[in-house]
Amino acid sequence: KFVSVIIAAAGKGKRMNSHINKQYLNIGEKPVLAHTIEVFNKCSFIDEIIVVTHPDEVAYCKEKVINFFGLEKVTKVVAGGKERQESIFNGLKAVYQKCDIVVIHDGARPFVREEYILKSIDEAIKHKAVGVGVPVKDTIKVVDEEKNIKNTLNRNVLWAIQTPQTFDYQLLLRAHKKAIEDGYLGTDDTVLVERLGEKVRMLMSSYDNIKITTPEDLYIGEAILRNRK
Ligand code: CTP
Ligand code: MG
Repeated sequence: KFVSVIIAAAGKGKRMNSHINKQYLNIGEKPVLAHTIEVFNKCSFIDEIIVVTHPDEVAYCKEKVINFFGLEKVTKVVAGGKERQESIFNGLKAVYQKCDIVVIHDGARPFVREEYILKSIDEAIKHKAVGVGVPVKDTIKVVDEEKNIKNTLNRNVLWAIQTPQTFDYQLLLRAHKKAIEDGYLGTDDTVLVERLGEKVRMLMSSYDNIKITTPEDLYIGEAILRNRK
């Protein structure tokens, strides 16, 4: 099986409130994005990595991350779109034509472990679509624009989805094309496959597979990194 990875790193990181894009901020000695790509670069069974960056950051990403850290499995750096879904679609168009399995991962999720990548690939070979995630710890409320609580969801069935999300390549491509056709915009990839009525598996991962999103995630990230050494 030919396995391609698409790293989504084309966002603007608005919630981080930093003038440097969050993917290029350091945790420990390295930029977030370098940590992320290194895990996939070292992972056996991965044949190529496509990095999707902001159109203005393609050259910067190549120089400061891919070349600097010697991430040799990266075959292409392509420009992303305004929305994450468009960025992923650009990545899907750039993979090797004989790709069987595609692994989608957020550039901003640097603490992914090889174990879950390998399990995901295995599960995607069997079931075609799989996301990793964790049961939510907080009680989740639906709140309206006036800040009134509308209702409370049953926590026992709620999971927070993360990446990697791993798919049969043809299935994910079909799911993206259908979303475009319908004008549907999703915040992850599994939802696009769910919309086709296809089964998507959930694989338990770990609570430290955080997405670097707001400023406090930087010091939480430093703690996760220290804890691993
Ligand atoms: N992403 C992308 N293309 C976009 C938007 C997001 O590739 N147009 C990527 C981000 O770079 C990130 C991942 O998708 O690695 C998850 O998105 P998110 O955490 O929302 O990152 P940003 O969109 O950059 O942050 P914000 O929403 O705070 O602006
Ligand atoms: Mg975003």
